[in-house]
Amino acid sequence: MVQAAVMGYGVVGSGVVEVLMQHQSSIARRTKEEIGIKYILDIRDFPDSPFQEKFTKSFEDILNDDEVRVVAEVMGGVHPAYEFTKQLLESGKSVVTSNKELVATMGAELLKIAREHNVNYLFEASVGGGVPIIRPLSQCLAANDVIEIAGILNGTTNFILTKMIRENMSFEDALAMAQQLGYAERNPAADIEGHDAGRKISILASLAYGRHVYPQFVHTEGITHITLADVAYAASWGGVIKLIGQVKRLEDDTLDITVEPMLIERNSQLANVDDVFNGILVRGDATGDVVFYGKGAGKLPTASAVVADIIDCVKHLKRRKYFDWADGDGSIVKPYEETAFPVYLRLKTTMPKQELLNKMQQLFVNVREIVRANAASDEYAFATDDMVVAERERAIAALKEDGVEVLSKIRISDL
Ligand code: HSE
Repeated sequence: MVQAAVMGYGVVGSGVVEVLMQHQSSIARRTKEEIGIKYILDIRDFPDSPFQEKFTKSFEDILNDDEVRVVAEVMGGVHPAYEFTKQLLESGKSVVTSNKELVATMGAELLKIAREHNVNYLFEASVGGGVPIIRPLSQCLAANDVIEIAGILNGTTNFILTKMIRENMSFEDALAMAQQLGYAERNPAADIEGHDAGRKISILASLAYGRHVYPQFVHTEGITHITLADVAYAASWGGVIKLIGQVKRLEDDTLDITVEPMLIERNSQLANVDDVFNGILVRGDATGDVVFYGKGAGKLPTASAVVADIIDCVKHLKRRKYFDWADGDGSIVKPYEETAFPVYLRLKTTMPKQELLNKMQQLFVNVREIVRANAASDEYAFATDDMVVAERERAIAALKEDGVEVLSKIRISDL
């Protein structure tokens, strides 16, 4: 029997214990080894849990027990998860995690430590919850040059936007519902401000391009400014608004990497990825588009990926799995101001319509008006063609000088 430990008995941690216990015999058949859980680390008490004898409040119990070969870190947050993970890897134990914040901010260092100590640091659950993406990207698609990855990477915001699009529900009500269902992070700002998706695209970019792309290099916008009016204009334009994490390799070999809401056409493969589901499109030079779809948040889907990593570690106790990248300094990332893409703009002005249309034609590239039913008489919306961000910001500043209020500005995707 190989012994494992679980650090953190929250939503994911309790799911890991449940999945591992319930599937113990089928996992043993596949792994040719039984996997036991010797410790569950948590500072809280769980008097009603059937696993009383496994709980400990002392990290040292796990660190100093030579029988424990694999540890699932499902605590979340950087500290003390980082210190714990580092010590475990240094002591020769493999670690698996769903902690995208830790992988996105310290991944290069922890992977290096794992390499030096000939153990594994696996993180399938850190992106896409139950959707396999880390292994497919680094193994099955390894023969490809990855041209682009674009994904709906955050279940909470996708749930909220779906409620807004399909049920005309307010942002606040939809967020409360997502929290009740256990999808949201402890601090929902990480979801709705785009940071959770930012961490995930930073992990995917690091894996695909071999250099750590830290979250601070990812231009990140959330969905808090999206209104039901924008949702209605997107529908008139022929699509929906989704929060997309995207990384594209540009012709000069730099990366355009962002998390931001985008208008995507209704016939795009990502347009119908709804509710808490995630969808991740990988564009390879040999494969073309490959799309991964499934539940990106929630107890059991995420636990499934964590347990799969535990199984993989048990199968590779003396060998390394090569999920790896080198450190990075951000020089691979194109500054956001220099990237180019089309946008949708929603404006408020009392300027006569013809004057506004003339001004828009002068300032923006190939601008088209979008109309919606029941719009206020001083509200207008437009779609532009590709413009470099800095140039577009100059055009927007010129509009503002003429008293035009810019209510919304959302990227239009080419997906
Ligand atoms: N809060 C995250 C989400 C959980 O909503 O996608 C899974 O990473």
